[in-house]
Amino acid sequence: MITDESVERVREGADIVQIIGEHVKLRRSGNSYRGPCPFHQGTGPNFSVVPAKGLYHCFVCNESGDVFTYLQKRLGMDFPDAIRYVANKAGIVIEEVQRSAEAVDTRQPMWDLYAMVADWFRTQLWDERAGEAARNYLSFRRVTRDVADRFGLGFAPRDLDAMRNHLVALGVSEEVLLAAGLLVQREEGGALRPRFRDRLMFPIVDASGHHVAFGGRLLGPGEPKYLNSAESPVFTKGRVLYGLHMAKHAIRREGRVMLVEGYFDVVRLVSAGFEWVVAPLGTALTEDQAALLPRYAKQAFLLYDNDRPGLKATFKAGDRLLHERMSVQVVTLPEGEDPDSFVDKFGGEKLAEQLSDAVDIFERKLNELARNGYFAELHRKRVAIDKLLPTLRATADSVTRDIYIARASELSGVTREALEREVSQMSPRVSVSQAGRSPGPPPVEEEPIADRRSSGRRRPIAATPGIERSLVRILLHDRSHVEQVAEHIGPDELRDPALRDIYRALLSVPPDDSIEVVASRLEPESADLFSLLQREPIGEGEEVQGSLAGSIARIRRTAVQRKMDEITRAIRIASPEEQDVLISEKRRLMDDLAALGGGSFKSFDRARQT
Ligand code: GTP
Ligand code: MN
Repeated sequence: MITDESVERVREGADIVQIIGEHVKLRRSGNSYRGPCPFHQGTGPNFSVVPAKGLYHCFVCNESGDVFTYLQKRLGMDFPDAIRYVANKAGIVIEEVQRSAEAVDTRQPMWDLYAMVADWFRTQLWDERAGEAARNYLSFRRVTRDVADRFGLGFAPRDLDAMRNHLVALGVSEEVLLAAGLLVQREEGGALRPRFRDRLMFPIVDASGHHVAFGGRLLGPGEPKYLNSAESPVFTKGRVLYGLHMAKHAIRREGRVMLVEGYFDVVRLVSAGFEWVVAPLGTALTEDQAALLPRYAKQAFLLYDNDRPGLKATFKAGDRLLHERMSVQVVTLPEGEDPDSFVDKFGGEKLAEQLSDAVDIFERKLNELARNGYFAELHRKRVAIDKLLPTLRATADSVTRDIYIARASELSGVTREALEREVSQMSPRVSVSQAGRSPGPPPVEEEPIADRRSSGRRRPIAATPGIERSLVRILLHDRSHVEQVAEHIGPDELRDPALRDIYRALLSVPPDDSIEVVASRLEPESADLFSLLQREPIGEGEEVQGSLAGSIARIRRTAVQRKMDEITRAIRIASPEEQDVLISEKRRLMDDLAALGGGSFKSFDRARQT
């Protein structure tokens, strides 16, 4: 450990102008030095170094710090290395003291254990007999011995005792194996079994090189396809990126990092010569994982599956990376290919072409919205802006954000001023969760559109999904009412997606067809709710007619109110001519709302008297 006293001596002795001047062309200007900013790759002299204070600052991107932060951020050094580097330049001898015995990291035994087990899995893989099936699988996936060894791949055999016997013979106790999650006990007093059996094993190593966990893939079909180690004192799934330890030098060298979804993608790309690649561990990229990256590179390429969930994950990861001030590019692979299969089929050169066709994440998002017609229509424009706002708010780099706002304005026809106003306005939910926290860069938000609850809680009058639910449940049990209800409520007016789907299915089938026909028209996601509602009988005292009429009224009112809200929000971003249209539309809706007033439905009352 370097003593505090040494750190201070080095800081004072450092020639910040000389050290930064090795990478940036600096010119003297009064008491400071000016040059192009190396952080945002600026060209003007906006980057200032003040030797008297030992600080640097960019007036455009706002990066600032001292000589140590410069070396950490620019060259990816850790703090002690930065100190040693400067000390060496300045000819200062630093004192390093041995950490005292108590200071030895308590996680060391667990790291050692995981490394030991990784070794054992590896010997199993290359054992003539034990590893045969796994080796066949590897050659089926076209992974060579050489590549397998780079990743320390191994095999966890089906055998119940082999691993335990080996480790116990080395002096590791069963309790320790249990605590490390390598053995599991199904029930109290039950037998101990290995967590991983019959799986190809990927050792997971943290950024400092400690073995902290495993990911294991089944050799054949089955569930779960991948199994990770449980979280432990040394392993938090959301804080580790697979491959980072091995990739970090390449990432620094390239100045960019590729993010893929799975273990095999990492293995394949590295073996094809793309060493600057990492993957989260089967989850969406977390804030902690994103925060690991900017110290190595400023540019990220996202190579996720080209389907809806993949695109959603791409945008979410993008927001997190923009929040870390990274520039984010999206690579779109052909439908149905992941990076592994793509490179396996078409080779590395083709991937390099895809990389050079990468588009900026915000541009990709704009394209997607434009492709779906969002900018063609006034109401949907508002929705489009809502989908863009979280990204704009997440973008911590103000220059990038300005560019994005300009592009969004250009494409949507909404003025920059209106967009800027919207961006600086916190969404209600975020400001609640931010209460009491210190002001910092804006948090990364969920897409508000995707969260149907976020808008539903403002008005007590709003029809909750509870009302929608009881309406649909009654209709399910007595389909003779479906026609009448349909006169008042369109399927789009239900907010809950599953209830909406069931209602739509009910509308699409004549009432005397069997309920199985209705069931066959459902999306898979609504099937569970459907059978649940079917199993809930209508209570004896339940007054079906009254409750239907009441539900209709409330759902209608909510729908009209929602429409009005939408318009109010659209007015904020509309041009004057558009505003006129919207305002008269809003007036009409207000009349509708007034007419809905009391909540009983004349036509429905009439219908039920017949
Ligand atoms: P291969 O089929 O081996 O090529 O895997 P893949 O990476 O193409 O699979 P997929 O796209 O299904 O999964 C991507 C990543 O998600 C994997 O690398 C795992 O990290 C994770 N994953 C996939 N299936 C499971 C699962 O069943 N359980 C868990 N915990 N993670 C999974
Ligand atoms: Mn795959």
